[in-house]
Amino acid sequence: MAMNSDVQSLLSSGVAVTDATLERLLPSATTEPHSIHRAMRHSVFAGGKRLRPILCMQAARMVAGSGEVPAGAAELGAAIEMAHTYSLIHDDLPALDNDDLRRGKPTCHVAFGEAIAILAGDALQNLAFQVIADLPAPPATVVAILHHFALAIGTGVGAPSAIPPGMIGGQVVDIESEGVPPTPELVERIHRAKTGALLTSSIVCGGLLGLAHAPQAAQAQDSIARLRSFGNNFGLAFQIIDDILDMTQTSAELGKTAGKDLTAVKATWPAVYGIDRSRTDAATLIADAFAALEPFGEAGEPLKSLARFCVDRTH
Ligand code: IPE
Ligand code: IPE
Ligand code: MG
Ligand code: MG
Ligand code: MG
Repeated sequence: MAMNSDVQSLLSSGVAVTDATLERLLPSATTEPHSIHRAMRHSVFAGGKRLRPILCMQAARMVAGSGEVPAGAAELGAAIEMAHTYSLIHDDLPALDNDDLRRGKPTCHVAFGEAIAILAGDALQNLAFQVIADLPAPPATVVAILHHFALAIGTGVGAPSAIPPGMIGGQVVDIESEGVPPTPELVERIHRAKTGALLTSSIVCGGLLGLAHAPQAAQAQDSIARLRSFGNNFGLAFQIIDDILDMTQTSAELGKTAGKDLTAVKATWPAVYGIDRSRTDAATLIADAFAALEPFGEAGEPLKSLARFCVDRTH
């Protein structure tokens, strides 16, 4: 199918650009202190779909309107991937989800010990901010991106009420809700924050960068609102699918320990609604996400095909 090969090439070229950019931006394994740089590289280069950078680059390209991925979008995407990898390293720690497999490799704390894994996560987060501060974009754009990104990975302090709390806030509620029978409101709050916020930020920050390259940015606010709506709906669908895969796939397929959510009595979408309804909800959210991109026409196809790929994926 044409669409399928399109998304495959978007993914493979996006992975190649992201990996090359990360390679350029991360300290080498021989940079001192060696242990932390080896640990950062272990987790960043363990694999991963690179979905957030690819979404970032495609959102930037869509609003820039030139057909090209604008300058700085690969670096911005790489910074977001660093923050995402940091969130995974910390998510896997014994004090959080206590996982020993990630991206098909031993988790950072298993390979390097807990202290270095914690510090490697911290350092990846720091480096992400450094890379964004250095983006080749007007200062007002860089500040807007920094602000949006910081909100998305934080606890929600200072966010307008329309914006869900950030990734760390979501992780707190996720951990504090273990063993508690989840309500629809609770699981939605967790999912929009722990996963939706950073995914949305990849798309919105990409859009902010792209607008700095757009010949006329008259529709700027409307474009950002539409990207935010796309991201919010897609982000929730993405975590619903992650929950479903945890129950239906094997550890070998996922590259992370399957069946963990049930064992840890996590607040998941299937725990509240069952698997069938979870699948329908993800499909409805994706339809809502697509509706937000309607005015972009053909130019919205790459983002839509990436979202479609994510809900259809099996690992
Ligand atoms: C896993 O994210 C963590 C969640 C937010 C569900 P991904 O499924 O994007 O993981 P990688 O980056 O491909 O390893
Ligand atoms: C992870 O949620 C969210 C973040 C890492 C912020 P999960 O705990 O469900 O992610 P996996 O399943 O371990 O990748
Ligand atoms: Mg978790
Ligand atoms: Mg986890
Ligand atoms: Mg999960």
